[in-house]
Amino acid sequence: MVLVLDFGSQYNQLITRRIREFGVYSELHSHRLTVEEIKEMNPSGIILSGGPHSVYDDNSFRCDERIFDLDIPVLGICYGMQLMTQHFGGNVQRAKEREYGKADIELAGDPLLFKGTPKTQTVWMSHSDKIIEPPQGFTIGATSTSTPVAAFSDAERQCYGVQFHPEVRNTEYGNQLLKQFVFDVCQCKGDWSMESFIEQEIDKIRKQVGDKKVLCALSGGVDSSVVAALIHKAIGDQLTCIFVDHGLLRKNEGDMVMKTFRDEFQMNIIKVDAEDRFLSKLEGVSDPEQKRKIIGNEFIYVFDDEADKIKDIDYLAQGTLYTDIVESGTETAQTIKSHHNVGGLPENMQFELLEPLNTLFKDEVRALGTELGVPEDIVWRQPFPGPGLGIRVLGAITKDKLQIVRESDAILRDEIKNAGLDRDIWQYFTVLPDIRSVGVMGDARTYDYTIGIRAVTSIDGMTSDWARIPWEVLEKISTRIVNEVEHINRVVYDITSKPPATIEWE
Ligand code: XMP
Repeated sequence: MVLVLDFGSQYNQLITRRIREFGVYSELHSHRLTVEEIKEMNPSGIILSGGPHSVYDDNSFRCDERIFDLDIPVLGICYGMQLMTQHFGGNVQRAKEREYGKADIELAGDPLLFKGTPKTQTVWMSHSDKIIEPPQGFTIGATSTSTPVAAFSDAERQCYGVQFHPEVRNTEYGNQLLKQFVFDVCQCKGDWSMESFIEQEIDKIRKQVGDKKVLCALSGGVDSSVVAALIHKAIGDQLTCIFVDHGLLRKNEGDMVMKTFRDEFQMNIIKVDAEDRFLSKLEGVSDPEQKRKIIGNEFIYVFDDEADKIKDIDYLAQGTLYTDIVESGTETAQTIKSHHNVGGLPENMQFELLEPLNTLFKDEVRALGTELGVPEDIVWRQPFPGPGLGIRVLGAITKDKLQIVRESDAILRDEIKNAGLDRDIWQYFTVLPDIRSVGVMGDARTYDYTIGIRAVTSIDGMTSDWARIPWEVLEKISTRIVNEVEHINRVVYDITSKPPATIEWE
């Protein structure tokens, strides 16, 4: 296992991810871990991530500096490298300006981690302070015009540092560098796989749950379906699934979920019709964060009620992913939006949480689902947010508006599938902004709503680009929506990537 200590860089989860792609298990943890806790984890290597601070800031993030005496290889990235420099007595220069973007580095000295790569290469920089003198015993491995010490190493102490970000794709040989560290320096084997993850998780779930009962919030989406399948495999009928129809589902979704899980999977599953309950709580509420909180809370209250009926439930299983946790704001990362299965939880919950997917990225969950034998059409379903259509009707929600989104979304899905694009586009849906505009239909003036189409390509939802859907397909979608969905007289296509936008509009 390679342990990544989190100092708050927006890229830090990518480090974990790249390493797992090499077949080596990796976890990201708080920089506050103590040496004792780290020893317990028995990592083969430690990576200190980048971060927004200067090592000179009074409240800058630190780690337990005894990690440098553990005889475990350490790689410092950006801020992590500066921290290492300071610890070993090198010189970090405080900077006023940030160097951000692509830069060329030149290899120098004994460029251990760069084995087999060209002398000049492009890297991704994002830093303010820089190292002007490495600590004693360290050799400079690379330089750039703006950064005299772009990489250094001390093989004896097993300490390595890079000023740039090898985890970012724009660093040409970043993957090789990380591989070099993980395999050559840390001597990892690369034998981690989904199969071993399943075994490990089943074991963990059985130990944790014992003979207690688990409730699972099953939405029929990829995450909750996979989590249900995993837990079902571990504890069978000790698992009861609850499917809440909150009235914010897509067209025909409720029937499809029941057919798959009750009839085909033969799981214990209870359907709760809670549309009125949700919509009355949401009436007149237009603030996105408030909507998310209301939906999240109501979800748990519905579960509480159902659990009371079943009796003796101790755990609530959720398909929370790693991205949900990171984007909802860890100790070091800023809150972008509160994801409904994380930030929306009320404080007086009666259950303990069981979240076995919370170290995985979306594509890893798909691989896990496939390995577990979950049918392809579920594993490959596009992601659907917990708050459902509630965050796709912008502003206050009404039944009529939900119907507009539901119908237009069904047309969009239909046409994307007809065009054979459903596997290429990561996520696609319609949104209903709270605007009306003038149109003409027949000979009459209309003053009606606009539908927005959002379709993105992405790997894990952390970043995305808008999908280049062929004009003819867009044309067909637009024509059908305007003709078939009442109260729509205009269709627009969202051509913004993430960042700066997010995938959902709320
Ligand atoms: P954003 O809009 O933040 O979305 O770019 C990234 C991915 O997460 C999904 N999403 C959610 N998923 N609960 C979820 O389970 C939520 O509250 C939530 N909000 C957004 C979104 O659909 C996209 O796939």
